[in-house]
Amino acid sequence: MKKKVILSGMRPTGKLHLGHWVGALSNWIDLQEKYNCFFMVADWHALMSEYKNPKSIKDITVDNVADWLVFGIDPEKSIIFRQSKILEHLELFMILSVITPLGWLSRCPTFKEQVKQLKEKDINTYAFLGYPVLQTSDIVLYKADYVPVGDDQLPHLELAREIVRRFSSLHKKKIFIEPQALLTKVSRLTGLDGRKMSKSYNNYISLDEEDESLENKVLGMFTDPARKRKKDPGHPEICNVFSYYKIVNSGLEREVKDWCTQAKKGCVECKKILLNSLKEFLVSKRDKKKEILKDKNKIYDILNKGEDKARKVAISTLDEVKKAAGLI
Ligand code: TRP
Ligand code: SF4
Repeated sequence: MKKKVILSGMRPTGKLHLGHWVGALSNWIDLQEKYNCFFMVADWHALMSEYKNPKSIKDITVDNVADWLVFGIDPEKSIIFRQSKILEHLELFMILSVITPLGWLSRCPTFKEQVKQLKEKDINTYAFLGYPVLQTSDIVLYKADYVPVGDDQLPHLELAREIVRRFSSLHKKKIFIEPQALLTKVSRLTGLDGRKMSKSYNNYISLDEEDESLENKVLGMFTDPARKRKKDPGHPEICNVFSYYKIVNSGLEREVKDWCTQAKKGCVECKKILLNSLKEFLVSKRDKKKEILKDKNKIYDILNKGEDKARKVAISTLDEVKKAAGLI
């Protein structure tokens, strides 16, 4: 039986942190065993919001892909590529743009929200309005069956399906598959201060965090606010520190619950133990990443090879599409 196809992407807009590990990367790594996976650096999408400082996109791309590799994305199993290197994304973007009603885009909740939220970035632009159309091209160009995303991306998946249906009915041809979202099952990891983990709140642990800042960050984490002294029993289920244990050392979950609710260990000690678990989880990968980054050409080689494979698929789909659209 042919393997089902998965496509997902990340925008290279900053360093990856534990939130990305929980929300996306760990999931990608599991999926590559069962599916035919395409993992994409969405650099055009990054440019839509970062165009005032585009210099960083190239460097962040290399840094992010290095994380993908050291955490377990295997270029022998999955196709990793940069969106901007496969020109077919833009051609398909155009072909899909001409059939996408403006109202579908201006009514898209993510568009309305982001323009309001990211005021300093001036994303009230022509390209940004088309963000979901480019995302649709990314997905359908490879005829992806499933798209692993967070729930914030569901409106884009719905739009992708609508665009696919419109294309099929206009051209009486079923070239594309209606993609399904594959929601990440793990809950979102909160940041060090209990808010959503995010670059803009500076409350994250990056995947290559250095020892000293890792220590400061972990020891400064918010805990159960009701637990003021060591002799007060704590409530692990509302404690942020406990949720990190679940991610990096789930084997300790029961013990932590026990020492917390029985007031056997204090929060400082509990955090120190978490710190050790985090180091065990992160340090070897961080060091491996430093090694890889000494020779960036290796990363570019991997990307180039992935792009050769992706391009073949893209060209073949686009050929069908252009015929259906009456272009060739
Ligand atoms: N919009 C996605 C995000 O911000 C990134 C992305 C671009 C993507 N193209 C995609 C995700 C295609 C899945 C499939 O997270
Ligand atoms: Fe949180 Fe650990 Fe303190 Fe319990 S002992 S409140 S789990 S930090």
